[in-house]
Amino acid sequence: MTVHFIGAGPGAADLLTLRGRDIIASCPVCLYAGSLVPKEILSHCPKDAKIINTAPMDLDSIIAEIKQADQKGLDIARLHSGDLSLWSAMGEQLRRLRAEGIAVTITPGVPSFAAAAAALGHELTLPGLAQSVILTRTPGRASSMPENETLENFAKTGATLAIHLSIHNLSNTVAQLTPFYGAHCPVAIVFRASWPDQQIIRSDLGRIERDMPEGIERTALILVGPALNAEGFEESCLYASDYDRRFRPQSADSPFASGGER
Ligand SMILES: C[S@@+](CC[C@H](N)C(=O)[O-])C[C@H]1O[C@@H](n2cnc3c(N)ncnc32)[C@H](O)[C@@H]1O
Repeated sequence: MTVHFIGAGPGAADLLTLRGRDIIASCPVCLYAGSLVPKEILSHCPKDAKIINTAPMDLDSIIAEIKQADQKGLDIARLHSGDLSLWSAMGEQLRRLRAEGIAVTITPGVPSFAAAAAALGHELTLPGLAQSVILTRTPGRASSMPENETLENFAKTGATLAIHLSIHNLSNTVAQLTPFYGAHCPVAIVFRASWPDQQIIRSDLGRIERDMPEGIERTALILVGPALNAEGFEESCLYASDYDRRFRPQSADSPFASGGER
């Protein structure tokens, strides 16, 4: 018996990997994490599958459900939204399952920050402007932040920030970032990226609070950084016509001409 953790993606049912879909179809039990996993994805489950929404359950009851399936030799598809490496609570489940000697596999999913960037039509890393993306959050009722993981510390880098789980904390977020990025720094809020009711709000740090429409809550990402509406950035060397590289040696003397590395 195996518990298959599967990243269910950001919302659109077809942003699920083929591997994830096939595993779901092969499992007689499916545990899914609440309303962020679209119902269409559950339609890949076998007709007679036991399908359980784990949103109202605590960790003990989830593990008890898994152990019950284990005793019957039934594989489980365990679905979490987006990708499993980010705020999925997979870590604590893995620890319990490993202690029980229960086998697991992990199938990644499309994370919400990638779906938000796609919705915006932007690359988040642009030459000369931002070469890093910081995936972070602000403290929540149930989650404090490690001491050095502050917005101020991240803001000092000037990188593109993808701030999760924080739309309710927009005012504080803006106040902490503005001294570092400036009031004209672009901000984009993407609400329910890839869902049919997706909304995008583009603004800057100085105006975003005024520009926010009613009803944007919970499932939204705050993206901040100069890469978000840049036009005048450098082109990368990768496709420059005179850039000497392994796949495009520029002359017979190139170290790459005979298939050398780099
Ligand atoms: C518990 S975290 C889950 C993150 C998820 N594992 C991922 O890979 O993106 C939930 C937060 O992710 C963000 N989020 C998840 N899905 C989203 C979507 N479709 N559009 C915008 N933000 C989303 C929101 O910030 C939300 O508060």
